[in-house]
Amino acid sequence: MKMKTTLYSIAVIFITLFFIQCSPAGGNETGHEYMPDMSHSIAYEANVNSYYYYHSWGSKEEIDRMSTPRKPVKGTIARGSLPSSANHMMDSMMNGSLNGNAIRIPMNGSVAYYYGNTEDERNRAMKEIVANPVKLTDAALAKGKNLYTINCAICHGDLGDGAGYLVRDDGGKYPAQPANFLKDDFIASSEGRFYHSIMYGKNMMGSYADKLSYEERWDVIHYIRSLQANSKKLKYSEKENTFSGSQAVLDAKKASSAPAAPVAPSSNVKK
Ligand code: HEC
Repeated sequence: MKMKTTLYSIAVIFITLFFIQCSPAGGNETGHEYMPDMSHSIAYEANVNSYYYYHSWGSKEEIDRMSTPRKPVKGTIARGSLPSSANHMMDSMMNGSLNGNAIRIPMNGSVAYYYGNTEDERNRAMKEIVANPVKLTDAALAKGKNLYTINCAICHGDLGDGAGYLVRDDGGKYPAQPANFLKDDFIASSEGRFYHSIMYGKNMMGSYADKLSYEERWDVIHYIRSLQANSKKLKYSEKENTFSGSQAVLDAKKASSAPAAPVAPSSNVKK
């Protein structure tokens, strides 16, 4: 008898639960659903649209529209997203040299880069990006050294001479020759060449845009410059910079822009 009553009450509880739990939303009712998060996952990822009729507050079209990233307001630049070609402004924002009561705005690591991944754009970057927006400080150099050693030295070598571990003479397996930054060509190159390579890589070298933040990329470039200065027995540090604009750099510019040796005329040229 007791058993029957127990079963009966359990049944009543379940039937009641069944009717209470699952009622659709409508009017002022939010509706009920038994364990909704088991059948409809809550989208924790940004901009992921998981539309479900029973727990949403708008039409599907509305949610589609709201869950898509919106374009920035015309004529505005998000904080920390100045193009790197606006170097003078970048400098004042990062290094706090703005006048008056302007505040220093730390870069957020995702500064927009308005150059595409083509040869033409590489050349444009080289022409337009001619200065390092990060101030040359011992701290920047130290960070640059650390990041260079982690990310670049395995190929480009601790000295920047292109003789890293992966291409070592006794058993290096890397199939391509990494650039030797101590060559005139690279000493003469503008900062844009280095920055562009970090953003997109080049041929066998992959991009490091996702490994290094905006400031870190420029720290690494400072460090590469210091390696170049070392190779010329010059100084490139916070205290003393005898490298930038030095005779060695001018000579390198001259040497790397000299026309290549004339090619001997080929014998099968059509006359
Ligand atoms: C896995 C090996 C490898 C690593 C790691 C690597 N590079 Fe390279 N890098 C190369 C190779 C190979 C080339 C030559 C590409 C070519 O010219 O075909 C190159 C070329 C370059 C160039 C010259 C591009 C030009 O304009 O000719 C720069 C600048 C450069 N790398 C910077 C870096 C920096 C900075 C890092 C670290 C953040 C780095 N590389 C990490 C392999 C590497």
